[in-house]
Amino acid sequence: MLVETNKSLKNFNTFGIDCKAHYYVSVASTSQLMAMLSDNKYKARFILGGGSNMLLTKDINALVIHLNLKGIKVLSETEDHVHIEAMAGENWHEFVLYCIEKGYGGLENLSLIPGNTGTTPIQNIGAYGVELKDTFESCKAVEIESRTEVQFSKQACQFGYRTSVFKNDLKDKYVITSVVFNLTKTNHKKSTSYGAIQEQLSEQNIKEPTLKNISDAVIAIRKSKLPDPKKIGNSGSFFKNPVIDLERFHDFQLEFPNAPFYKVSQTEFKIPAGWLIEKAGFKGLRFGDAGVHKNQALVLVNYGKANGNEILELAMKIQKKVRKIFGIFLEPEVNII
Ligand code: EPU
Repeated sequence: MLVETNKSLKNFNTFGIDCKAHYYVSVASTSQLMAMLSDNKYKARFILGGGSNMLLTKDINALVIHLNLKGIKVLSETEDHVHIEAMAGENWHEFVLYCIEKGYGGLENLSLIPGNTGTTPIQNIGAYGVELKDTFESCKAVEIESRTEVQFSKQACQFGYRTSVFKNDLKDKYVITSVVFNLTKTNHKKSTSYGAIQEQLSEQNIKEPTLKNISDAVIAIRKSKLPDPKKIGNSGSFFKNPVIDLERFHDFQLEFPNAPFYKVSQTEFKIPAGWLIEKAGFKGLRFGDAGVHKNQALVLVNYGKANGNEILELAMKIQKKVRKIFGIFLEPEVNII
């Protein structure tokens, strides 16, 4: 394995931030990963997946281990279900398309989400009414300290809205090497109730959508709202949608009766951060090369040469103004490094 020094990470993070790795190595198998984890020459390590959920604000003074483990394998199947395993370095969208082509259902609503398969459980990716946890069966992960590989069940992952045990108690302790999904071969549980999906399908007069129809609808919606990271650097939603309790929600609604919201439970309400940011006046604004996307205010963008701190400054400006106007704190969804 070739360990490079002072390697630019610009092409390995979807924000396109030009920070450097002091040391960099790409690993293609679990044994290569374990070898690099045990190499005592390096004091600090940083695990890099698809780079789609992070904002680099400084060079990384560590050995960056880039996970490029590839492979897709059916582990078992019945007439109705299939257990399929994807290695961590598989591109997520390509894996979703592969499953759709094979007729395996469950991942179609998660089409076109940037990043690699190995990182999807960490923040329990979700879109258009579906979350990763709905089809997640288990994952394999290497414990960094002991270099042993263990399996995590769905329960052990403690999934929540954009979170899991890997973002909390076990943060930076494990490297996920592969993920197993339980997908349907018949009687697919299609999730088409999300407004924008229904609009797309009815525009095309589709009454009984196939998995591909749903995936195409999701791709069209995402393309219309979200910038393509290959063209404009971004990390998808920069903040989580805030959840507020009933008491605060009452006050909020009295003051802002037209605000959209989703009821999470009897006592919890989610307010779309994109709406708050738009109302705070940031939608489409640009400060140098750092900006707020014109079609979806929840997405911060790098028009070319912004550095991580410029994006972070913009994020903090947004947090401050949203807190001042609405009294609501916006928690970043992206990992700030
Ligand atoms: N809205 C605005 N202005 C904006 C953006 C949104 O008023 O600039 C309002 C919309 O009108 C709508 C509501 O906010 O009423 C919700 O907007 P949208 O359907 O675009 O979804 P979201 O809540 O902003 C979440 C996810 C997205 C996911 C979509 C669709 C989070 C943090 N984000 O966004 O995930 O694609 O739902 O399910 O939960 C991502 O995580 O990177 C991501 C893109």
